[in-house]
Amino acid sequence: MSSATVGIEVFDVDLTAAMSVAFNDHQYDYVVAPLVHPRFVRDVNAHNAIGGFTRSDTLLGSSQWNNQVLGTTSSWLELDALDEPLRVRSEAAFKQEIAWAAHLGLSAVIIPPPREPAVNYARCVARALAGLHYLRLLVRIPLVASPPLSGEGATAGGGGPVLDGDVSWRWWNQMRVLCDHHKNLYPALELTADLPSDPAVLERWCGEPVQVLILPTSIFLANRHGFPVLSKAHQAFVLRMSNHRVQYVVSGVARSDKGGMASYAEYMRHLLQRDPAKAQAGDAFDAPYRDVLQAPLQPLQDNLESQTYETFERDPVKYDLYEEAVRKALLARFPDASVTVVLMVVGAGRGPLVRAAFRAASAAKRTLRVYAVEKNPNAVVTLMAQKESLAQWRDSVTVVSADMRTWQAPELADILVSELLGSFGDNESSPECLDGAQKFLKPDGISIPRSYVSFVAPITSHRLHNEVRAMGGDAKHFETPYVVKLHNVKLLAPPQPCFTFVHPTPQPANNDRFGSLTFRVDCDALLHGFAGYFDATLYDDVHCSIEPSTHSPAMFSWFPLFFPLRSPTLVTAGAPLTVSFWRRTDGHRMYYEWAVTAPFVTSIHNPGGRSYYIGL
Ligand SMILES: C[S@@+](CC[C@H](N)C(=O)[O-])C[C@H]1O[C@@H](n2cnc3c(N)ncnc32)[C@H](O)[C@@H]1O
Repeated sequence: MSSATVGIEVFDVDLTAAMSVAFNDHQYDYVVAPLVHPRFVRDVNAHNAIGGFTRSDTLLGSSQWNNQVLGTTSSWLELDALDEPLRVRSEAAFKQEIAWAAHLGLSAVIIPPPREPAVNYARCVARALAGLHYLRLLVRIPLVASPPLSGEGATAGGGGPVLDGDVSWRWWNQMRVLCDHHKNLYPALELTADLPSDPAVLERWCGEPVQVLILPTSIFLANRHGFPVLSKAHQAFVLRMSNHRVQYVVSGVARSDKGGMASYAEYMRHLLQRDPAKAQAGDAFDAPYRDVLQAPLQPLQDNLESQTYETFERDPVKYDLYEEAVRKALLARFPDASVTVVLMVVGAGRGPLVRAAFRAASAAKRTLRVYAVEKNPNAVVTLMAQKESLAQWRDSVTVVSADMRTWQAPELADILVSELLGSFGDNESSPECLDGAQKFLKPDGISIPRSYVSFVAPITSHRLHNEVRAMGGDAKHFETPYVVKLHNVKLLAPPQPCFTFVHPTPQPANNDRFGSLTFRVDCDALLHGFAGYFDATLYDDVHCSIEPSTHSPAMFSWFPLFFPLRSPTLVTAGAPLTVSFWRRTDGHRMYYEWAVTAPFVTSIHNPGGRSYYIGL
């Protein structure tokens, strides 16, 4: 189903005829069809039941089954029926249908909404998942649940007073928790005429692994020419979800004779194509990094590679901000243009901050004497090459191959420029390095950055949780923070400041920190961990930030940090959620510990840095 986008739900007995109409006449990409047509009568308990309970697999080629058909299970199944014979029959039929879908090589089967209690249903799903390799099970979840209708085949949106968007999310949540967060279980979200009134309840689906959006024809309105369109609110939600690589399924009968079923497919394509965000989304620089967990860099312990420097240098925004900070500092603190200002770039890498400093000096009409201090001998080669080839460098740059913590500077600096920041601000040992470097900063000298604050926010992300599990799911992997472009994620509360570092700092410095933060989450959700960000004050009002509310526009040098929790746990809207974070150092290592203490208590993650630390 890789290239497919808009599918249609069909119920015809003749599948190939239905596919021909759907693809050729109506321009859909795939069909959603019952695995067993209700007209096929069968007795699943009979020994001879296997032969002939549905159409033959030879009806289509395996690539067609895989790319052009999604299955649905029979609507008569009642896996939680009190009537035991019906339940037993339903269980056997469910097992048989899922096995058949796997045999056909379908990519996914849509299974019915798990209306409460749905406990035995969940057991059957868990059992089925345990035996599957590729087939995904998509649980049909109405966006807003209605009370069940009596009788077979009741689907949400079919009538009755609307409850709210929490009920149906809880169906999904119970199903995935009972199925132990299985990686092949996903929601297929069915839009309803009413959307949840609380935006947080709607936004919560952005943290869930929604694979399919089902669009009943009943939710479409008619435009002034009689063609189907979605309301503005529905459009906004569809476009929001389109960022998450969902597939669409149109379900139901054509409500107007204008264009018939073809007009729904045409409208969906038109809607999705005209969205500029969607058009850019696939090509965006960050697209390959979304929800991909990366180990944070260890620039102190390891020597960064050329490619890593190249990636840094591709982001002009960071260097523009540093240039502006240096320019402002030069103008504010060095009014006499005839004085040569001593500026040291500590951790100079391949020299982009040296170049930014020269641009700032030229804009401010000031003269610099620059020291470029770098401990990575490979980056020093690049710095030396620039000193040899560039006149400006030859005259005014001294390249120093040294660790800033132990270097004996020949003179004191007026301005100390560094970029040793990690996604959480202090997580790449900037405080420890700058403590060493500030001994060669004049007492009234300026550090750029002046300070940085780390921020923490609770998040729900089924996807990130499963990414950590896929690494082995052991304590070590759940006690490690990851750099990750957060995408299939919902923030449950605005980020709050956690640790602050100011430079220069009174010595001897204590870089250990402890912060306890209490959040009010905006909707019931499964808490999977915490996002970490930073906001650095470079100089005066020049900030370099990845905290969402102050994010430096178009800057992509840093992705946030993800601190996982070993056990995802339910948090409820409005109830206080308290988490504690520790930054600990022991002379050779720096590490974080974290634990939730309300509304439930977790163990302290990464005690003593047993699973993850940064070498100093
Ligand atoms: C994040 S990179 C920034 C490089 C460059 N300034 C830039 O903005 O592209 C940090 C640099 O600091 C260097 N570094 C880290 N700790 C250092 C230390 N203690 N002494 C000298 N250089 C250090 C690393 O080798 C790396 O080149």
